[in-house]
Amino acid sequence: MTNTASSLVGVRFIGSGSAVPDRVLSNYDLAQMVDTTDEWIASRTGIKERHIADGEADSVANLAAKAGQKAIAAAGLTASDIDLIILATSTSDDLFGTAGRVQKILGAERAVAFDLVAACSGFVFGLVTASQYIRSGVYKNVLLLGADVLSRWVDWQDRRTCILFGDGAGALLLQASPDHQPNNLLGFEMRSDGKGNDLLNINYSGRSTFEPISMNGQEVYRFAVRRVPEVIEKSLHSANLEVHDLDWLILHQANQRIIDAVVNRFGIDPAKAVSNMGKYGNTSAASIPIALDEWVQAGKIQPNHLVAIAGFGAGLSWGSAVFRWG
Ligand code: COA
Repeated sequence: MTNTASSLVGVRFIGSGSAVPDRVLSNYDLAQMVDTTDEWIASRTGIKERHIADGEADSVANLAAKAGQKAIAAAGLTASDIDLIILATSTSDDLFGTAGRVQKILGAERAVAFDLVAACSGFVFGLVTASQYIRSGVYKNVLLLGADVLSRWVDWQDRRTCILFGDGAGALLLQASPDHQPNNLLGFEMRSDGKGNDLLNINYSGRSTFEPISMNGQEVYRFAVRRVPEVIEKSLHSANLEVHDLDWLILHQANQRIIDAVVNRFGIDPAKAVSNMGKYGNTSAASIPIALDEWVQAGKIQPNHLVAIAGFGAGLSWGSAVFRWG
């Protein structure tokens, strides 16, 4: 199918959902497991507790499906309305992909479903990918999921990494706008730099398994603080907007100090920078949609509000998108 720019279909953002495991692991619990303290973790990261998967009930497929069901209901749709399911995850239940399992649980029989792997940038890359299928007129209703169970891949003896991560899933329903209605995806920018690939990995170990997460925390921190504002500015620029036009800024929830650095750099009201990592830790591809859903459920994000999201992480990969809610 080909399209000229003038015939591109608009995208609307019409429903969100999220799900986390019941089991909570606090900083105090972690201090029983490794040589750390609540004070060290909270002051360096902003994280106080995280939700940790407890068996099959909290598989990537089950968490993603729970979040997806909520987003479908919030959008006033049923599973049979869904044309495409994109599951952003780096912790698949099955190396062949988990999206098919989600499709089965949802009963979304008409949908085509596939996984997208882009670490903590997965939700942003997925949002741009989902939007292209809508813009080109191929699909009408797309369910975008970000779900990760990084607790499976954490070395629980490694205090430099085990304090950071949590498990969960978030979902967003994107829909083609009716004829002549505006496109609510206003701008985006995606970047990769494979030269930094060795800074954050879950490497294949050569024996039908993978090594636990390895990370150069200081370099990843520097990368995020330097690169994230650039992509936010570029996506705003392509939308003819300025940072002060934003109602909400939702960064990947990795570290409160990274959010604070971006807020300071832009000189925006800190209350506009969504933060919930104190309760969830870094849930990778799930962190942005969990935060988005929490702010939508609380009535803070309202129809027509301008929202910028930005993800960053392994790859290295990073990206931003600006959209109008609704
Ligand atoms: N508890 C107590 N001490 C700890 C610790 C913990 N959990 N983890 C590390 N330390 C110690 C180190 O061993 C080191 O001690 P030393 O000076 O005696 O060697 C000291 O604290 C400082 O370590 P350092 O790695 O320099 O800390 P930091 O200030 O860079 O903070 C991170 C570490 C991981 C919190 C920080 O680098 C970070 O957040 N980076 C970004 C990570 C990220 O967001 N990754 C995901 C991206 S998607």
